[in-house]
Amino acid sequence: MLLQNAVATASLLAYIGTADAWSPSNSYAPVTGSCAGNTNLVRAADGLSDAETQWLEKREGNTKVALKKFLERATKDFADSSIVDEIFGSATPRAGFAACGGGYRGTFIGAGIAAAMDERTEGANEHGLGGLLQGLSYMSGLSGGTMFTSTLLFNNWTSVQEIVDRMNDGDHSIWDISQSPMNPGGSDTQYTNKVFGTIKNALKEKYDAGFDVTLADVYGLFTGYYLYPSLPDGGATYLWSDVQDMDTFKNGEMPMVIELSSVESADETAVSLGSTGFEITPFEFGSWDETVKAFTNIKYLGTEVSNGVPTNEDTCVTGFDNASFLSGASSNIVNYIYYQGSAMYQTVIGTIKSKFIPANSTVDRIDVNIISPNPFKDTSYLTSSDNTHVESDSLYMVDGGFGGQNIPFNPLMRKERDLDVVFASDTTFNTADVWPSGSSLMHTYDRQFMAIGKTDAFPYVPDTETMMSLGMNKNPTFFGCDSSNLTDLAYVPPLVVYLPNRAYSFNSNITTWTLTYTKEERLAMIQNGFEIATRNNFTDDPGFLGCVGCAVMRRKQEQLGLEWPAECQQCFQQYCWNGTLVNSRNASSTAPPTANDALPESADISPLITSECSGDDCFSTIHTATSTTVTCHECEENGAVQTGVVTSTIETEECEESTTRVTATAECEECEEGANGGHKYTTISSMTTTTEVCEECEEAEYRATATANGSKNGSSSGSNNGSNNSNGSNASSKSNGSNSSAKSYTAAPTIMQVTIGTPAASRVSVIQNENNGNSLAITSIMTMLTLIGAAFELM
Ligand SMILES: *[C@@H]1O[C@H](CO)[C@@H](O)[C@H](O)[C@H]1NC(C)=O
Ligand SMILES: *[C@@H]1O[C@H](CO)[C@@H](O)[C@H](O)[C@H]1NC(C)=O
Ligand SMILES: *[C@@H]1O[C@H](CO)[C@@H](O)[C@H](O)[C@H]1NC(C)=O
Ligand SMILES: *[C@@H]1O[C@H](CO)[C@@H](O)[C@H](O)[C@H]1NC(C)=O
Ligand SMILES: *[C@@H]1O[C@H](CO)[C@@H](O)[C@H](O)[C@H]1NC(C)=O
Ligand SMILES: *[C@@H]1O[C@H](CO)[C@@H](O)[C@H](O)[C@H]1NC(C)=O
Ligand SMILES: *[C@@H]1O[C@H](CO)[C@@H](O)[C@H](O)[C@H]1NC(C)=O
Ligand SMILES: *[C@@H]1O[C@H](CO)[C@@H](O)[C@H](O)[C@H]1NC(C)=O
Ligand SMILES: *[C@@H]1O[C@H](CO)[C@@H](O)[C@H](O)[C@H]1NC(C)=O
Ligand SMILES: *[C@@H]1O[C@H](CO)[C@@H](O)[C@H](O)[C@H]1NC(C)=O
Ligand SMILES: *[C@@H]1O[C@H](CO)[C@@H](O)[C@H](O)[C@H]1NC(C)=O
Ligand SMILES: *[C@@H]1O[C@H](CO)[C@@H](O)[C@H](O)[C@H]1NC(C)=O
Repeated sequence: MLLQNAVATASLLAYIGTADAWSPSNSYAPVTGSCAGNTNLVRAADGLSDAETQWLEKREGNTKVALKKFLERATKDFADSSIVDEIFGSATPRAGFAACGGGYRGTFIGAGIAAAMDERTEGANEHGLGGLLQGLSYMSGLSGGTMFTSTLLFNNWTSVQEIVDRMNDGDHSIWDISQSPMNPGGSDTQYTNKVFGTIKNALKEKYDAGFDVTLADVYGLFTGYYLYPSLPDGGATYLWSDVQDMDTFKNGEMPMVIELSSVESADETAVSLGSTGFEITPFEFGSWDETVKAFTNIKYLGTEVSNGVPTNEDTCVTGFDNASFLSGASSNIVNYIYYQGSAMYQTVIGTIKSKFIPANSTVDRIDVNIISPNPFKDTSYLTSSDNTHVESDSLYMVDGGFGGQNIPFNPLMRKERDLDVVFASDTTFNTADVWPSGSSLMHTYDRQFMAIGKTDAFPYVPDTETMMSLGMNKNPTFFGCDSSNLTDLAYVPPLVVYLPNRAYSFNSNITTWTLTYTKEERLAMIQNGFEIATRNNFTDDPGFLGCVGCAVMRRKQEQLGLEWPAECQQCFQQYCWNGTLVNSRNASSTAPPTANDALPESADISPLITSECSGDDCFSTIHTATSTTVTCHECEENGAVQTGVVTSTIETEECEESTTRVTATAECEECEEGANGGHKYTTISSMTTTTEVCEECEEAEYRATATANGSKNGSSSGSNNGSNNSNGSNASSKSNGSNSSAKSYTAAPTIMQVTIGTPAASRVSVIQNENNGNSLAITSIMTMLTLIGAAFELM
């Protein structure tokens, strides 16, 4: 894989042009129209939909060719590889890939693993699993994994190689997260303003059309700008049902992408392993679980129905199944804010709510993606006495990883889909240093024995102690190798090829709350993912390619009673968990984390917001205790550590006709020499001013020196009194204090962000906001959200 900068501006522009042109939907807010002959929008979950069955048939025509080719390559060194022809003479193995959550860590490691399987990746056909991706029938995603799968899906099934070739910082190419959602444009304030503006408009339109809007909508819309930057408005108008008309999908030239989401009850704000899981596919939305057991046509989501029948005859809503909205339902960290319950977060929530959510909104659950009206209202397909989800007027969707299952296994394990093998990345944050322990496997295993999971099956897996002491959380491991051992389960599930995150060429244990990565870091993560999938490009084990081939063939070999090659026996000896435990399993010790778990001790994430106001203008600084500690720690000044002083100085550098460029620096107040020792200060600044302001440049310069004293006093109020400068004039407030940050610029949102710390390991952010209420609210919440999400490792 060419993990080098290969971006040519010309090709990028050409690409954007193409992508724009193919945007398939012009719909904006959900629209009411005819149901096009659909009299019942809901069906029982008693099998695959006709649409999926037909699609799968078409797909199988392609996977058959691709898998055969892959297996021929994988078994080319076998003494006897006739098994390949024998299998394809009567059957085609069915394979899937489950992309794990874990914020951008999950996104990029998932991408690297998929790249290793993709024949379009440079090197994948020589020292990788090239061709396997072309042979997959399904790909599922959850949380950070959803961010990966959605990227390929909604960019016309682009390849990781193509993204890597065009990867750059600061040009809004795919996954250009060099700038955080707090300041998507960096120094390009016009872009930032455009993003904020379109998000606000999108929310307003949806609300005006009579639908609930929540902070989850805000989050989903933001994310779209990083994943589908070339689609209009960050893909806000792209619909899941549009995928049905996408040629690549329609012709079965790509796997079906499924996202996994969880649902809360109307009266509960917690999700557990026993919560109902929902699938989002290009055709349908719904659940196999006993509490719903039904699917609805995704195209008409948003339609008011009773038992699947539109309540207003032949009146259906379309345009509710927005890609960004539904992907947000699978990967939404806004929820965590509620569980944190700190007054500080509540203040921030209140602030953003008041800025973005219309005042007359009756929604009090602003943390969830609300699907309302509930498409399963009054349906009777359920087989449980728990009828909350079919009685509720709305469904409250939360991050798919909430219940403790961070790998989206469920859709791929379904008997109805009949898969033979499922590849799974595990980028869960289980250990103190951000590596997986295997607990996610255990949670999925456990769930099948709960009422909610009784129609699921998942192979036997060991406890985390065994996983860790045998190194199974560091190396590929196969589970469920022998069907004959699985007959006590609800059915024989697919064989699982488990691919845990570990370091090869890069320490890919980057915390979930790292929201910005440089191009080099993104490339390094993807490369490391490639190496994870290939046991370091087969240098750790030249036979691994053949072993993956054996895993793909295993179920068919068992079913057809074919002879098992000696090489495969050897592989299974090496890669299959054989049932050994280092300790007897203590089931209760693997209980999933509940959303109310206390924050880990090691993560001191309580942020401080300080506001300093002068007249109508406020200068707010958000900084985290972590940032303060990290920054000052190196200064070896105990006083500094304890008081946690961060001084931010803003100086006006130049004053051009229409733009003032501002540089922000941050340093420890108490530190002189050595303040920079071991630290890298990255400064990102942006400010929009007007000519009028420049006339007052001198004064501005004087006033722009701000000192934010962040004592570790958590009682600082996050309140923002700065939204009141809307009188349009450039009334400079007369300020004389050195603490004043008063700026009377009446320009559009301006944000200043200073990222302090050594790369990767201790990246933290100090966010300073100019006095625009909206940007303050957004930036505040995004900061909080990532920090909180990280704490629970479920982003
Ligand atoms: C592994 O292969 C990938 C893709 O070809 C390549 O980018 C990477 O440098 C290789 N890693 C090693 C350690 O050779
Ligand atoms: C989408 O991708 C397919 C397959 O690569 C390609 O043939 C098609 O032209 C692309 N569509 C657009 C509109 O770019
Ligand atoms: C779909 O996207 C459009 C455009 O952003 C927006 O107006 C509409 O409210 C969205 N609908 C939903 C259900 O999110
Ligand atoms: C909320 O208020 C806005 C403007 O004040 C109005 O246009 C809208 O119809 C109101 N919505 C509801 C649901 O009352
Ligand atoms: C990543 O892993 C390495 C090695 O285990 C460890 O030294 C480092 O502290 C970890 N990074 C984080 C962020 O925990
Ligand atoms: C099972 O695996 C364990 C750990 O790898 C190994 O020590 C043991 O010998 C294996 N048992 C069999 C029967 O292969
Ligand atoms: C499966 O069954 C075989 C034969 O009974 C046994 O040797 C093996 O250990 C079993 N594997 C597991 C994972 O239980
Ligand atoms: C199993 O877990 C329970 C509950 O956490 C604990 O009380 C018990 O001591 C554990 N048993 C073992 C053997 O670890
Ligand atoms: C900031 O805090 C330091 C240490 O507590 C104090 O000496 C200094 O006077 C404070 N500055 C302002 C402007 O309050
Ligand atoms: C925090 O500030 C408040 C109000 O200024 C004060 O009453 C309280 O004692 C302070 N707490 C600490 C721990 O310094
Ligand atoms: C914000 O304004 C209100 C009312 O004007 C005032 O009571 C409050 O103290 C102010 N908050 C801050 C942080 O200045
Ligand atoms: C803004 O100022 C006006 C006039 O002083 C006042 O009535 C209004 O409440 C203020 N709004 C905010 C949000 O503070």
